Amino acid sequence: MSSATNLLIRQARILLPTGEFLVGDVKISDGQIVQVGTDLSTNIDEIAVKIIDAAGLTLLPGVIDPQVHFREPGLEHKEDLFTASCACAKGGVTSFLEMPNTRPLTTTQATLDDKLQRAAEKSLVNYGFFIGATAENLPDLLTANPTPGIKIFMGSMHGQLLIDQETALEAIFAKGKRLIAVHAEDQERINQRRQEFAGITDPAIHSQIQDNQAALLATQLAVKLSQKYERRLHILHLSTGDEAEFLRQEKPSWVTAEVTPQHLVLNTEAYQKIGTLAQMNPPLRSPKDNEILWQALRDGVIDFIATDHAPHTLEEKAKGYPNTPSGMPGVETSLPVMLTQAMQGKCTISQVANWMSTAVAQGYNIPNKGAIAPGYDADLVLVDLENYRPVLREELQTKCGWSPFEGWNLTGWPVITIVGGNVVYERGKLFTEIRGKALRFDA
Ligand code: DOR
Repeated sequence: MSSATNLLIRQARILLPTGEFLVGDVKISDGQIVQVGTDLSTNIDEIAVKIIDAAGLTLLPGVIDPQVHFREPGLEHKEDLFTASCACAKGGVTSFLEMPNTRPLTTTQATLDDKLQRAAEKSLVNYGFFIGATAENLPDLLTANPTPGIKIFMGSMHGQLLIDQETALEAIFAKGKRLIAVHAEDQERINQRRQEFAGITDPAIHSQIQDNQAALLATQLAVKLSQKYERRLHILHLSTGDEAEFLRQEKPSWVTAEVTPQHLVLNTEAYQKIGTLAQMNPPLRSPKDNEILWQALRDGVIDFIATDHAPHTLEEKAKGYPNTPSGMPGVETSLPVMLTQAMQGKCTISQVANWMSTAVAQGYNIPNKGAIAPGYDADLVLVDLENYRPVLREELQTKCGWSPFEGWNLTGWPVITIVGGNVVYERGKLFTEIRGKALRFDA
């Protein structure tokens, strides 16, 4: 474990909690922000060990990615907690919430503890792990700790983690208080359509098999159950305009929703260009869905952004549809993808920071994260909004070694990433001895 250094970041364009920018300095001690001001350099000696000259760079709260699949234990040929956390550090992601579909599944306290232990040994950034719901583990769902919440796959899954019957879902919603996060796709409809479209090997058919209606049906059911029990619900990777319009009408105050960058900036046209690399669950949708999702995000119907980083090897992705696995990596491109959108006028920089950090910390009750202010943890990213650089396969840290955004010319690349007051990435170099901490989730 490394002990946090005292840092003085100088002359950065700092995003303040008000959404305004201040060109100034940030002082960090013992892993926390202690002061933010226009010129803090006068009493340097008492505190600063390392000084970062950040002139020309923008300082944002570190990204908290609330939906990733990092594959350890059991699927380490795709990714592991070390490689994934290196990708996070490079992408400005200082905390992540990871999903339970590893091997073994994360469905008990023991499997949760095992992940926490592995992350303590290997992860460069902060971490939290969902507990997965099965038809049998209700007692574990009530007591597992620490966890951001219960993950339910309503569809798009096979084996124990699939809960596609309303009675089984209701049993989980009815008991306990903690957050339930749902992958909302209707399995019965998917099964029917799979038969209907059997034999088609064009991966574009994936978006028709797992269509908008399959997503809408499941989202409506999850909201219905959440309303019945006033149960805290989070809808993972909302993908359709239909769901966004439904939530615009009917979203209780205790329900949140997220969208992925790829559901905002990619659509079914991507299959022509990158084939099965564009295959994910829920699938990519139409350009019209992109626009409705953007509007819902800007209007606060959608609360935050997650990547659903779900790496598979190129070999697996070459198997040919429908034998190809669904999912794409995302943690090292999400921030530049979104900041590039902001620079092109789709939204503001401060909205991006809210959706990728502040609102996530609030949604999951993660204390002391998501803002640049005294008392907050020093999880920060300095980005360069003045230069554009392409996404290059050879620079990627994810073990799967590819990105759906290869060749995209992006701005807002992280220059320095700081986790708990430690520089973990600086101008192309990773500091692999740094370790993150287990996240806390307040009730
Ligand atoms: O495309 C996906 N892949 N969506 C998911 O929800 C699961 C993920 C995976 O684990 O590969």
